[in-house]
Amino acid sequence: MSRVSELLGVEYPVIQGAMGVICNPELVAAVSEAGGYGLLATAFATDAEVVRDQVRSTKELTNKPFGANLFAMNPKALEFAAVMADEGIGAVTVSGGSPKQLIPFLRECGVKVLALAANVDYACQAEALGADAIVAEGSESGGVQGFGIPSTMVLVPAVVDKVKVPVIAAGGIGDSRGYRAAMALGAEGVQVGTRFIATKECIAHENYKNLVVQASDVGTVLINLGRFQVRALRTALTRRIEGGETEALSVFGGPAMEDSWIKGHVDSGVLPAGQISGLVKDILSVKEVIREMVA
Ligand SMILES: Cc1cc2nc3c(=O)[nH]c(=O)nc-3n(C[C@H](O)[C@H](O)[C@H](O)COP(=O)(O)O)c2cc1C
Repeated sequence: MSRVSELLGVEYPVIQGAMGVICNPELVAAVSEAGGYGLLATAFATDAEVVRDQVRSTKELTNKPFGANLFAMNPKALEFAAVMADEGIGAVTVSGGSPKQLIPFLRECGVKVLALAANVDYACQAEALGADAIVAEGSESGGVQGFGIPSTMVLVPAVVDKVKVPVIAAGGIGDSRGYRAAMALGAEGVQVGTRFIATKECIAHENYKNLVVQASDVGTVLINLGRFQVRALRTALTRRIEGGETEALSVFGGPAMEDSWIKGHVDSGVLPAGQISGLVKDILSVKEVIREMVA
């Protein structure tokens, strides 16, 4: 059994990455029921009691372990951490900013911490702060990232060489080939986002799922949001942003997210997805995705 499976108490070391409003209790529970580790998202959450409700709704759907993501830049991240500890969440991922406050707090509460790192220095700092595992996320990944991030192929072995805690590879993994490649690079688990958008259980609108399935190997683009950037599907909207016609920040998060991700108005908001979209050719059940990956 891999150290990651042991840490999380799961059959397979496959974590479903946090994905804003689309990783709802149904998706999280489906991943955990299939033997992986589902994660609730709180990056855009504004109320700790809503986070508590999401945890409780997930518990009603599965008895298997599941976790949540804390986005350090969210001003309420510590409050959300306290709710997760109170609700008995076993492990959380920490991303989106400095984990200096969150790691010691969570450890004191007995919650395991998986720290996101996009470079070796950051991974070493997180380990020194007490992280139980590092999620090494390369630039292929969908969603928010910093600037000048190495690819998963380079980042994972570089981190593996420098830390003693287990490393989980994220970015560009969507099938058994990616899973085996991650293990060959020294990872002991994987975190997968984009592949889970194109699943039957995911609440994302069909239009979003279909764009993932139709995307080619060059079907995503990095959109500059100022302090960070987001990898998203190339659409008419992202072309307008690139041409300077539309302000990127006005079509990321908030109402634009609900409207484009869930309601399917794909030109009202950016649709985050990773380069692996180019290899996703069908909409499967969560169980089918996980079983093929670890087979
Ligand atoms: C739609 C979407 C939303 C995301 N939101 C978050 C988030 O809130 N917090 C986070 O840590 N990562 C977020 N991510 C990153 C994923 O959790 C995961 O690490 C990433 O998708 C892995 O790379 P892949 O897309 O190549 O599978 C998001 C990714 C996508 C595609």
